[in-house]
Amino acid sequence: MFRVKAVSVLCTLAASVVATPMLAPVKREYVGEATWFYPGEGACGVYNTSDQPVLAVSVDIWNGGEYCFQWVELTNPDTGITQYGQVVDECEGCDSTHVDLSPSLFESLGAPLSQGVISPLDWQFA
Ligand SMILES: *[C@@H]1O[C@H](CO)[C@@H](O)[C@H](O)[C@H]1NC(C)=O
Repeated sequence: MFRVKAVSVLCTLAASVVATPMLAPVKREYVGEATWFYPGEGACGVYNTSDQPVLAVSVDIWNGGEYCFQWVELTNPDTGITQYGQVVDECEGCDSTHVDLSPSLFESLGAPLSQGVISPLDWQFA
């Protein structure tokens, strides 16, 4: 009786392992801060304007442009607003979890440009 039970538990475990997608990307949520800048020709090699929702990531995250054109989900806990922006540049002066946003993206999180910094800011790759 015990043997039979053990086998069926093993089968259930095996089935759940197979059902889990292999190599599912690990999503890391960052708590950092945001500032804003006027985009131009970014380190990803394209030109963006202030009215586009784009951002620059820190040197620590940049990794040779690995995240160029990826979308990032950003939440301002102060306002509860979540927005999406596209990585187009590298921010040399940013510490690891600090992101630099286009003016329109910064304002769309419910913060006036005159505020300068959104801190804390929750963000992750979408
Ligand atoms: C940034 O500029 C590139 C090149 O023009 C464009 O393809 C991309 O859609 C722009 N990003 C956003 C969020 O507008």
